[in-house]
Amino acid sequence: MIIAVDGPTASGKGTIAKALAAHFGLPHLDTGLLYRAVGRQVFLSGGNPDDAADALAACDFADAVLADPDLRTEETGGYASRVSIHPPVRAALLARQQAFANQPGGAVLDGRDIATVIAPHADAKLFVTASVSARAMRRWTEMKGLGLDVDRTEIEADLEARDERDRNRAEAPLRQAEGAALLDTSNLTKEMAVATAIALVEKQA
Ligand code: C5P
Repeated sequence: MIIAVDGPTASGKGTIAKALAAHFGLPHLDTGLLYRAVGRQVFLSGGNPDDAADALAACDFADAVLADPDLRTEETGGYASRVSIHPPVRAALLARQQAFANQPGGAVLDGRDIATVIAPHADAKLFVTASVSARAMRRWTEMKGLGLDVDRTEIEADLEARDERDRNRAEAPLRQAEGAALLDTSNLTKEMAVATAIALVEKQA
C-alpha cells in the first residue's frame, strides 16, 4: 500500500505520516528533508538558493547533510522552499522519491507533491491542512520548547511567505490532488488527527 500525505508547513502532516507508517507497518519518507538538505548545502557552500545552477549543484549533497542539526530550522525551511522552485532540482530528487514509494510492500511519503507528481497512483491520499494561526501557534510552542525565543507574528509571516511560494510556483505547486481526502487539523488534538487519518486511509485503500 502506498500512502501519500501532502500539506503546508506545520499542518501536522509529518506527525500524521509517521503515525500512519507505524500503524500500517510501512517505511516512511519525509521528502521535505531532501529539499532541506539541498537548501542547507547551498547555504554551507555560500551559494544563492534563487540561482538554478547553484541549487542544482547542491543536489549532490552528501548524506551527512541529512543529519545536520540545523536541517529543521525555519531558516533552512526558507532555503528549501527557494531551491525547490527550480525544475532541475525537483527532477534530481524525483527518482529517489519514486523508488522509495514503489518499493515492494509499499510506503508512506509526506511532502507537497506526493499525490500529484511522485505517486499519483497511491492507494490512499490525504491533504492535511490547518489555519495559519493554528500552525504558527504549534511552531511557536515547538520552538519555545527548544528554548528558542521567537516572535509569533514573525513565525506567522514566515509561514505565509513559504506557503505563498509553495502554492504559486510553476512546477509541482502545493495543491489538493484529485481524489485526496481533506483533513483539517486546526481544532484536533494529535490523537484525534491520527485516528481520523487512519479512518480516511482505510476508507480509500
Ligand atoms: O515539509 P518541509 O517544511 O520540511 O519542506 C521544506 C520545503 O521543501 C517546503 O517549503 C517546500 O518548498 C519544499 N518541498 C517540496 N516538495 C516536497 C517536500 C518539500 O517542494 N515534496
